[in-house]
Amino acid sequence: MVRGILWRPRDGGRLIQPRFGGAAHGMLVALGSTEHDAFDHQPGHGSQALRIGILTGGGDAPGLNAAIRGVGRRALAHGDTVIGVKNGWAGLIGDGDYMELDRRAFSGILQLGGTVLGSSRTNPMKREGGREEVLRNLGRAELDALVAIGGDDTLSVAAWLAEHGGPVVGVPKTMDNDLSVTDYCIGFDTAVSRVAEAVDRLHTTAAAHHRVMVVEVMGRDTGWVALMGGIAGGADLVLIPEIRVSLDEVLERLQRRLRSGSDFSIIVVAEGVEMEGVTDKEAAGGKRDAFGHVQLSKRGVGETLAELIEERLGHETRTTVLGHTQRGGTPSAYDRIWATRVGVAAFDLVLQKSWGMMPVVRNGAVETAPIADVVAEQRRVPQELYELAKVFY
Ligand code: F6P
Repeated sequence: MVRGILWRPRDGGRLIQPRFGGAAHGMLVALGSTEHDAFDHQPGHGSQALRIGILTGGGDAPGLNAAIRGVGRRALAHGDTVIGVKNGWAGLIGDGDYMELDRRAFSGILQLGGTVLGSSRTNPMKREGGREEVLRNLGRAELDALVAIGGDDTLSVAAWLAEHGGPVVGVPKTMDNDLSVTDYCIGFDTAVSRVAEAVDRLHTTAAAHHRVMVVEVMGRDTGWVALMGGIAGGADLVLIPEIRVSLDEVLERLQRRLRSGSDFSIIVVAEGVEMEGVTDKEAAGGKRDAFGHVQLSKRGVGETLAELIEERLGHETRTTVLGHTQRGGTPSAYDRIWATRVGVAAFDLVLQKSWGMMPVVRNGAVETAPIADVVAEQRRVPQELYELAKVFY
């Protein structure tokens, strides 16, 4: 049972009608409160300085710090107070974990990977009483607005808050690049560059030893990182979850290369690929992360495929799993620039009180879309793009 005002107004406790009256009332029932609406807070009125919270949730991605800096520096320039929420939604459950960030906090972070705020895959919606804890902490922190930077899981919590009248805006982040509506997600460009770089390096050693090299890359249930990294690196075959390819077709492709005089090959395989004879997702031992996703890297798709190739073709094969090197370290210039742009744009959405919205990138420009639309469906690699990669097989 939730008691008291949860996201408290800063004008002496005067109760203000929620922005989304009907919807917020729905949540009131869901939360079991009989006293106050959870969102009786109406932020950003008049010229009053704002208290703006920022959090980063889900897997870290290069460029997150550029976005944090974009929101933070713009807010400070506007005379507002910035509150950094630690470790994603985990910083808003229990006793809460957040702190004020001054100008120094944003200094020297543009080029850093990871996130200075920390991250987690904690999802309050999947935790008994989690929603109430988040609301209570947002109230305690006296936030006028919250900027949630994350992928579909993090943003679905933001969408829920916004749906119930919460002053929340989002920022799209995921190296998987699988959010619909936006052409840009923080971290994707850097991840693709890492894959291309790895494929470049593997080319020379593959050629020297006349081997097949299988490169397993991340991307969860979509093949964006694999396909784009494979195209950029000139892979001889890319296997992605969106397009089913049989083991026989893989072997046939390798034999064709041998027949044409190429005695080495590079195969980029997405961790989420489905192929008969290769471990299926549930066979991963059922290991799941805190958001409830199967840990696809545990399937060992790359290694299984390499073993099968060696067994069936007698061609020496090695596996490289790029893993978290795709996410760690310095962001590309492209990620720094666009993360900065969407970060600054997110602050502008706060000023406009465009709750429930987020900056997205379409056709090279920053536009705005509802968070709910961005997380509504997964963006999958279209057949046309796969056909482009196939031109070089
Ligand atoms: O969603 C980003 C991502 O890097 C996926 O590509 C990958 O499957 C997953 O996170 C790995 O998660 P963790 O960091 O929990 O191992």
